[in-house]
Amino acid sequence: MDDKLALPVGTTLDRFIMRKQEEFPFATGELSQLLRDIALATKIVNREINRAGLIGVTGNYGQQNVQGEEQQKLDVIANIRFIRALRNGGEVCTIISEEEDEVIQTGNAKGKYIVAMDPLDGSSNIDVNVAIGTIFSIYRRMSEVEGDGTLEDCLQSGAKQVAAGYIIYGSSTMLVYTTGCGVNGFTYEPSLGEFFLSHPMIRTPKEGNLYSCNEGNINSFPDGIKAYIHYCQEKNYSGRYIGSLVADFHRNLLKGGVYLYPPTAKSPDGKLRLVYECNALAMIIEQAGGKATDGSERILDKTPTSLHQRCPLVIGSPDMVDKVEEFLAKEAVAV
Ligand code: AHG
Ligand code: MN
Ligand code: MN
Repeated sequence: MDDKLALPVGTTLDRFIMRKQEEFPFATGELSQLLRDIALATKIVNREINRAGLIGVTGNYGQQNVQGEEQQKLDVIANIRFIRALRNGGEVCTIISEEEDEVIQTGNAKGKYIVAMDPLDGSSNIDVNVAIGTIFSIYRRMSEVEGDGTLEDCLQSGAKQVAAGYIIYGSSTMLVYTTGCGVNGFTYEPSLGEFFLSHPMIRTPKEGNLYSCNEGNINSFPDGIKAYIHYCQEKNYSGRYIGSLVADFHRNLLKGGVYLYPPTAKSPDGKLRLVYECNALAMIIEQAGGKATDGSERILDKTPTSLHQRCPLVIGSPDMVDKVEEFLAKEAVAV
């Protein structure tokens, strides 16, 4: 990746977005505005998360989402906040969300963009002060710019993303995103209400020694994954698993490692969602020099057939992902 593209640490997110826009002579500023809308929603959600224990928004909401998962109050709050910001911003015609059964039409008939999001990732960690996140993908609509976006607009392959990112609400809050020219990370300074560039042009290590999966499920992992985990143990790799995909991904991105959510008895297609979780992180890891597959196929090449479909995920340092695939291929031949 060209280092000339890097801006100095300390640049505000707003200035960064503006400078990037200037590099594209025909840019209309709509994508820039959309990124600003996301940053605004992030600040609001960050505020709610930080004081969650004090304002009674921890715990169950009392309903299940379309995937039969218990919604947490913060899942619902984050979903509302992001939808509101994107609707008011005007650049997005259609939103799809992990927390919504159907597509959401914003009424912005001239909006050129589609947003797919997991408004709050890592629900089970909300009540215990462990890092949680938000994941988003941005697509250009394929249908004519007038009226509602279509289901086809929403089911584009991950390779068509024009931008993708995540927010990690951790020991500090960070926004990490790519528009296809490398990955940049911004840290939130709450007293100023600003994101500042703190991690320019992130590259993931080619190889690492962290592996992240829910080892409690090992008995029902495919044999190739079991063999790979055994290999990690033999090599004395460190097992690191938070149970918030964003947090596990972020650590491995910076330090080098591999995250695996393979098929299990309970979730035969894996647990993670192709459209809301896997695609965005796959674009980011590739832009940072890493890899993302479902065990054999590149995530970004998969064409979703339904909004909420699940997909196995192997993502992280490229040599580690290759190794996992090697183990899976070997077991496939042995059967
Ligand atoms: P979400 O909170 O958006 O439903 O996502 C939870 C996901 C992901 O964040 C995490 O990596 C995974 O679930 C953990 O699953 P297990 O508890 O099965 O390990
Ligand atoms: Mn999630
Ligand atoms: Mn979620």
